[in-house]
Amino acid sequence: MVGLGPKKPPSRQGSSTDLPKDLAQEVKRLEGMFTVPQEKLKEITDHFVKELAKGLTVEGGSIPMNPTWCMGMPDGNEQGRYLALDMGGTNLRVCEITLTEKKSEFDIIQSKYRMPEELKTGEADELWEYIADCLQQFIQTHHGEENLETLPLGFTFSYPATQNYIDHGILQRWTKGFDIDGVEGKDVVPPFLDALKKRGVPINLAALINDTTGTLVASAYTDTTMKIGCIFGTGCNAAYMEDCGSIPKLAHMNLPADTLMGINCEWGAFDNEHVVLPRTPYDVVIDKASPRPDQQAFEKMIAGLYLGEIFRTVLVDLHDNKHVNIFDQQNIDKLRKAYTLDSSFLSAIEEDPFENLSETAELFQARLNLAPSMAELELIRRLAELIGTRAARLSACGVAAICKKKGYETCHVGADGSVFNKYPHFKERGAQALREILDWPEKKAGERDPIEILAAEDGSGVGAALIAALTLKRVKAGNMAGIQHPENYK
Ligand code: BGC
Repeated sequence: MVGLGPKKPPSRQGSSTDLPKDLAQEVKRLEGMFTVPQEKLKEITDHFVKELAKGLTVEGGSIPMNPTWCMGMPDGNEQGRYLALDMGGTNLRVCEITLTEKKSEFDIIQSKYRMPEELKTGEADELWEYIADCLQQFIQTHHGEENLETLPLGFTFSYPATQNYIDHGILQRWTKGFDIDGVEGKDVVPPFLDALKKRGVPINLAALINDTTGTLVASAYTDTTMKIGCIFGTGCNAAYMEDCGSIPKLAHMNLPADTLMGINCEWGAFDNEHVVLPRTPYDVVIDKASPRPDQQAFEKMIAGLYLGEIFRTVLVDLHDNKHVNIFDQQNIDKLRKAYTLDSSFLSAIEEDPFENLSETAELFQARLNLAPSMAELELIRRLAELIGTRAARLSACGVAAICKKKGYETCHVGADGSVFNKYPHFKERGAQALREILDWPEKKAGERDPIEILAAEDGSGVGAALIAALTLKRVKAGNMAGIQHPENYK
């Protein structure tokens, strides 16, 4: 009997012998394309280590390795009241954070606003007006007429930005499907502050930060062994602390060699020149059709925005391919719509607990008006597993590369984002890949891995507040490096 009740998610590996011959062959082909074996993981990691170093040179490389002017880690004793604004890929969040007298503790009030889809490809003014409106609404709701001019703001702007100062950031390029004209190549802080001023909401921006740097600092607030902050969400990226002596592109600043500098790697751009990543023809199609072709090669194989799109692109191909012709005689119009499936669709497939994949069948019916056969359901499940596993294994290469570069043999890595938090088996698959890359011996019962990727503290809330606090502290102590407007830090 099948389908009697929930059980451990079965792996479809091996069961493909029951598939009709053409589908079995197809599954084999997909497995060949999407599987990243241990040796390849190691090759990618070794190349990654070199690219991280290259990004820090004056000539640069494809990974931007942006200095962030976050120049220290918290010790748990930071205090004060801060505003934090997070412009993520999906939501806008405004928080007020109080870092309390008790070590590593904080209070938080927050409001979330949905980022309207049309804003992502609209006009720059509309974007800043919308953000300013949300901030104004938050302040009115929580503070009425109270003057918040003195409350320092940490603005989490999670896109690649060149920061010559911590209170400024020139957008290098939009990522995550954003495509707003007139913002790339410009400092994003002035138009944002202008929109606030227009509303009579003067705010002091203390720090423009990336979500990864926020994640790193927020995680280190409660766990001092945290060395890397990662986001595996709509986009993917990591930050870590580098010694200024290892950042040739900052040599002209004459900073002491052992001073720490947060580096926002922007590793989504790894291998933009396509030297090492095992791209499939499907990845190539998605890249070409994206608003920024030839950018974010690594991110496009890993991040939540793209996982559903890779899956969809394969299925459309298998329908159009006359040898395989899945969903034969059915209308696949809904499936043809680009970006119609997000990574939660794949999560649901991988989570289907039933042997007969009845939940997957229902999902296809409800969302795509398709009725896959049992053999097609088996292929669908295997395909989701392959895409999800590839993402987790490739992600581990980035983490391993930073650890290798820094010589970290044991540490914690703080990670956040919808894929990390919600995608089934992502954590275990990533941990397994780290084991393979770094050749750890078999774990004994109860033993922990030397490097563990753990769920992070709230980077764009608490992290932003902490970076604002750390910046204020160092400015007060006379360290003006990377500060454009010292008058704002009184
Ligand atoms: C952005 C990064 C960000 C990451 C995760 C990427 O697309 O370029 O700045 O950290 O997404 O949000």
